[in-house]
Amino acid sequence: MTDAPARIIDGKVHAERLRAEVAAEVATLRSEHGLQPGLAVVLVGDDPASQAYVKSKGEHSLAIGMHSVTHRLPADTRQEELIRLVADLNADPLIHGILVQLPLPKHLDEAAVIGTINPDKDVDGLHVVNAGRLVAGLPSLVACTPMGCMILLRETLGDMSGKHAVVVGRSLLVGKPIAQLLLAANCTVTMAHSRTVDLPSICRQADILVAAVGQPRMIRGDWIKPGATVIDVGINRVPFDNPVQAAAGKTKLVGDVNYKEAAQVAGWITPVPGGVGLMTVAALLRNTLAAAKRQAGLDA
Ligand code: GUN
Repeated sequence: MTDAPARIIDGKVHAERLRAEVAAEVATLRSEHGLQPGLAVVLVGDDPASQAYVKSKGEHSLAIGMHSVTHRLPADTRQEELIRLVADLNADPLIHGILVQLPLPKHLDEAAVIGTINPDKDVDGLHVVNAGRLVAGLPSLVACTPMGCMILLRETLGDMSGKHAVVVGRSLLVGKPIAQLLLAANCTVTMAHSRTVDLPSICRQADILVAAVGQPRMIRGDWIKPGATVIDVGINRVPFDNPVQAAAGKTKLVGDVNYKEAAQVAGWITPVPGGVGLMTVAALLRNTLAAAKRQAGLDA
């Protein structure tokens, strides 16, 4: 254990700063070029968590002066209907960024739908063209959560050259892209996942530990190197610890990291809520601004 508990990486502060920067650029773009960045968010079905995320994306984009539309489709929407909507948005000159909220209902093919988004409007950075450009080290639209994590890391640690980063989780949305971004920042990167042997000892080697597994409080305090920086991407809804509140059906959000334990060991840590989640929306706004500028032939 270290002498002092970890310092908190406050996602609210960093996200507010990023949103303010994007808002200022949006204002300039509108006044100097008559260009208003436009974001379209598509939600299929009524998953409560997705509904909350989509609402937040719509509100934040409007709040910083963007054009914003949200398409809410029923859970039984057919693949052709969804693809037709994406095609309409691809062709819409007022829309510069398209985000199809995931997960989609089981009968829909996520990869096929994402594949129909114009890569220039893919503000989620999930199209194979953007994922491939990231790996190739070319400019690309980068997935929002990984970009948000990297901003937190850069603003907290500065230069990360030579640091050992361990990424737990290999999803398309987070694990794979953040590993590429850490590599581009000159980290030595280890990717761990559900089949990794002796995960605790791998995690204990990390100067930077990124947890993106979707397992509540899986990463324990004694998996963390004293002084390490811990980025917790998990957003898991669990019953309250107090049995009376739990019995009343009360739930709360926790990360993939056991925060109480980890905060006694780490040097820096992101809380849940109040950490990475807030950065995801701010990064989406930044991507939408960048996409609008590129589509207008301006320097992004
Ligand atoms: N679901 C949870 N996070 C995300 C995200 O960053 N993008 C999309 N499209 N869906 C998500």
